[in-house]
Amino acid sequence: MDDFDLIIFGGDGDLSFRKIYPALYHRLNEQQIDDGSRILAVSRTDQTQKEFQERLKAKLEEYVKDIDQDVLKRLLKMVSHGTVDTGNGKQSKFTKDWFEKASQEIRVFYLATPATAFGSICKFLHDEGYISEGARVVLEKPLGTDLKTSEEVNDQVAKYFDEEQIYRIDHYLGKETVQNLMVLRFANNIFERSWNAQEIDNIQITVAESLGVGTRGGFYDNYGALRDMVQNHLLQLLCLIAMEPPGILEADEVRDEKLKVLKALRPYDKETIQTDTVRGQYTRGKTDEGSLPSYLEEIDKYDSETETFVALKAYVDNWRWGGVPFYLRTGKRLPNRYSEIVINFKHVPHNIFPEKKDIANNRLTIRLQPEERIELVQMVKIPGPGGYRYKPFSLELDYAEHFENRFPEAYERLLMDVVRGNQTLFMRRDEVKASWTWIETILNNWKHETNPNILYEAGTWGPGDRVMDEGSEWVKSRHVLKVQKQGGSDEK
Ligand code: BG6
Repeated sequence: MDDFDLIIFGGDGDLSFRKIYPALYHRLNEQQIDDGSRILAVSRTDQTQKEFQERLKAKLEEYVKDIDQDVLKRLLKMVSHGTVDTGNGKQSKFTKDWFEKASQEIRVFYLATPATAFGSICKFLHDEGYISEGARVVLEKPLGTDLKTSEEVNDQVAKYFDEEQIYRIDHYLGKETVQNLMVLRFANNIFERSWNAQEIDNIQITVAESLGVGTRGGFYDNYGALRDMVQNHLLQLLCLIAMEPPGILEADEVRDEKLKVLKALRPYDKETIQTDTVRGQYTRGKTDEGSLPSYLEEIDKYDSETETFVALKAYVDNWRWGGVPFYLRTGKRLPNRYSEIVINFKHVPHNIFPEKKDIANNRLTIRLQPEERIELVQMVKIPGPGGYRYKPFSLELDYAEHFENRFPEAYERLLMDVVRGNQTLFMRRDEVKASWTWIETILNNWKHETNPNILYEAGTWGPGDRVMDEGSEWVKSRHVLKVQKQGGSDEK
């Protein structure tokens, strides 16, 4: 990897300490980057180099398992702290000198700050003449809170950077198992042939989290699950599952295909907002380990309309997917943390076996995290006499069993892609616009809706059970999910 200069705004923030520096540590440890690169952690607070280095060291020791002290030392040598207040354009002498000495062709500005600061940061960089020819800028989510604000943020950045220089992060795209979706779909012939409305009954994408909002309450209460998770992560997963094969694996070819999916999403209206969307908020709950606080207690407020759970039945209106429901679900304070995509194939059209016992539908489950694996449920004959007796059986590929190497964290891959100049795993502006356009059909209808959040107890599977009739598609689809969670009736 070529050496680079990396400037992180929000460089002493939580995201930087938890994700960005550990990612750099691992890339250094695995010799993908070397000591010629320089990193400037920018924040508004004045602090000495020693103070910052001590904090960074403590944080890295906290967030990196079995840290190697030699590698840590090398990383600390590469990182310095710069004080900048982009609001008034003031910067420390150290920062100015650092830029004067910056010599690498590749200069990466990483904006790990709220999007409201992006405009002033970009202007500052421009006014100081820091945007070199090889410069690129990385934007952390969330980009705005709706279509209008996200367009404003994108406009502000576009004044100073071309689209080819802008890297909008969705860290789900950096996950190994999410990248594997591309290989699973486009390096195997058997799946692609049946990847359509003729063969598939429904698709379910679930990102369940067991934690609550914790210390992020102030931020989260302005967003909620729809903006925080669906607008980006779940829609990106949906795109990878639903898109047409790109001709080649290049950034714009892949992003063109994803964009077509986003544009084909069916907007919600007054009726479907009632039947096809559910939102909820967690109340106090209990687990074996003790009690769990409610959302309101966590954010320390008496009242809030923010949803911490959302379930949607979405449709991609095109030839491949006409009529196939995509169930999207995400929530906080659910019983487990897992992300999973389930492809439910259609039933066989006719049962020829005399026993007439139910034939389970084929089901492909892609477990993205944790315990990454792929499962394919198929029917098999039970060996032995007694005619054709059969039952579902699951073929499993467990990643940990077959691949011993450490799974790099999403940020490792994404950071290196920025340095390499590869935009494939980053969202293009028109994708962000299309996803907000669709999300707004939910937000705007929720505003007028008569059924607001449904409360669910922390530590349960969300509000579904109480709002949806037994036997409805929703319940059936959730049932599939529960069966899998409990180890299932399918034999392994
Ligand atoms: C973030 C959201 O983008 O993704 C968080 O803001 C969420 O609310 C997180 O917890 C989930 O990411 P992961 O990688 O832990 O699944």
